[in-house]
Amino acid sequence: MHEKKIVLTGDRPTGKLHIGHYVGSLKQRVDLQRTTDQYILIADMQALTDNIHNPEKVKAHVIEVLMDYYSVGIDFEVSNIFIQSLIPEIAELAVIYLNLVTVNRLKRNPTIKTEIAQKGFGEAVTAGFLMYPVHQAADITIVRANLVPVGSDQIPMIEQTNEIIEKFTAIYGPLFERVEPLVPSRGNRLPGIDGQAKMGKSLSNAIYLSDSADSVHKKVMNMYTDPNHLHVADPGTVEGNTVFAYLDLFDPNANELANLKEQYQKGGLGDVTIKKRLSEILNSFLEPIRLKRAEIEHEKSWLMEHVLQSTKNVRIRAQETMELVKKCLHLLY
Ligand code: TRP
Repeated sequence: MHEKKIVLTGDRPTGKLHIGHYVGSLKQRVDLQRTTDQYILIADMQALTDNIHNPEKVKAHVIEVLMDYYSVGIDFEVSNIFIQSLIPEIAELAVIYLNLVTVNRLKRNPTIKTEIAQKGFGEAVTAGFLMYPVHQAADITIVRANLVPVGSDQIPMIEQTNEIIEKFTAIYGPLFERVEPLVPSRGNRLPGIDGQAKMGKSLSNAIYLSDSADSVHKKVMNMYTDPNHLHVADPGTVEGNTVFAYLDLFDPNANELANLKEQYQKGGLGDVTIKKRLSEILNSFLEPIRLKRAEIEHEKSWLMEHVLQSTKNVRIRAQETMELVKKCLHLLY
């Protein structure tokens, strides 16, 4: 017998989703929803860990993210989409897990370390931020997931989760399965339009799923290419050239693309030509997404109602998990 995998994935609602998200995770979710039992978490509580002073921003982005999901084809009838703060059992489980992890281990978590540096927290890092990997372990195990799609930078999160599960198992017995990370295979990271390694909302270098055709065109025409490719006749470099990085992922015609690369490297192919090609390709990719968004634009309350209902269903599963956990911990009275 082959049981369906239970998948848990999610996003912090702190911004609109961009095509980097599409390549890195959204497309994968659309595929996974047919073959697995998929849970998608709107991590509003986690979003507060680095938006302490902006709760209204987090709230406002919940619906934005839901619309992004809908527009790319995540099926709200099939995927179990839920809002973290409406499942207090997650927080309860996280408190239990805090006894199974040391402060030093959390400080050494590579993802956390990088984020503390990037955000300039230093010694001012809050306990809430430091413990978010523990909260994340609770997100995953509350639905008893065994497969978690992550970007390569999030692998330490899965290791942390598995350490907590191992510790739990060693002390209280087998309740949770080890969690398997799932890293998307074909280059899951798109550089920013400025050539920076990461596309990010805080970096102002993203192409959003909700961008208009005009805005996409402008962004593509301003894209970072090869700084030494000044004249059409000059030989150009394809590696590290943002336009080609995007074409690699989105151009449906591999042969033409290979020829263009050859021409570009030899000299005689201008940036404007390849940018126009990319702009058209991206806009025809985004067009059906825009149409689906337009469909739902006036049905926001329907979308929200739907998610509140699926959150109720997920909560029932979360309560079952907590019963099992409490039994292990002799907390049933
Ligand atoms: N950390 C993820 C993000 O930054 C969101 C998230 C929260 C998550 N809990 C998770 C992802 C558990 C995977 C598994 O967007």
